Amino acid sequence: KRLILIGPPGSGKGTQSPVIKDEYCLCHLATGDMLRAAVAAKTPLGVKAKEAMDKGELVSDDLVVGIIDEAMKKQSCQKGFILDGFPRTVVQAQKLDEMLQKQGTKIDKVLNFAIDDAVLEERITGRWIHPSSGRTYHTKFAPPKVPGVDDVTGEPLIQRKDDTPAVLKSRLEAFHRQTEPVIDYYGSKGILANLPAEKPPKEVTSEVQKVLSS
Ligand code: AP5
Ligand code: ZN
Repeated sequence: KRLILIGPPGSGKGTQSPVIKDEYCLCHLATGDMLRAAVAAKTPLGVKAKEAMDKGELVSDDLVVGIIDEAMKKQSCQKGFILDGFPRTVVQAQKLDEMLQKQGTKIDKVLNFAIDDAVLEERITGRWIHPSSGRTYHTKFAPPKVPGVDDVTGEPLIQRKDDTPAVLKSRLEAFHRQTEPVIDYYGSKGILANLPAEKPPKEVTSEVQKVLSS
């Protein structure tokens, strides 16, 4: 399967991805994770991306299309992939179509994590992540067994620099202005599925499974 997960910050894309990935043996390609790794490693790409990310703005289309193109070539995604956080502009969506067309493939389904803005601040400000595995926790909704510590490895959890109320505001603005048109783009292609993303994580997972088995 070739899937796209689309939705505002905190809607649950990164929480559902590992579940879907394991169930269907897919690669998880998250542009946000790749960019954060590049920023941490201070690569030329990371240096270019950092300023926009810190402000909650989108990084340039050329830059993210480049990293996705590279990631798709590098990974052996025979059974398919999950794109998490990409495409986020109509230009990115068009570039992706071109890339896939060259490979003779196409996107099967776009999962739209539909949710009200009002609940996102609590989700974002309570989030803790285990960077190397991508596991996500929440102080209230999905607490780790020991506060600040990953359940599996015992390693420390961190908070994202852009997970503040002020930066969330610009991330939401970017979502409504630049990414919502992408939802319509896939709607008109007839491959869009809307998910009730405000439900508890396990219920969202069942909804995803329903869509993917239909
Ligand atoms: P990115 O990393 O993609 O961040 P985002 O889109 O803002 O999304 P989040 O990761 O914040 O949300 P999520 O949906 O994954 O939420 P999660 O599942 O963790 O991008 C970061 C930045 O990189 C961008 O601002 C931009 O600068 C740049 N960038 C990335 N891609 C780009 C692109 N294509 N083009 C240009 N720039 C790009 O859940 C959040 C919290 O809620 C967790 O604590 C979780 O435990 C909890 N939770 C999850 N589900 C539920 C539930 N159902 N009920 C209760 N709590 C829940
Ligand atoms: Zn995420």
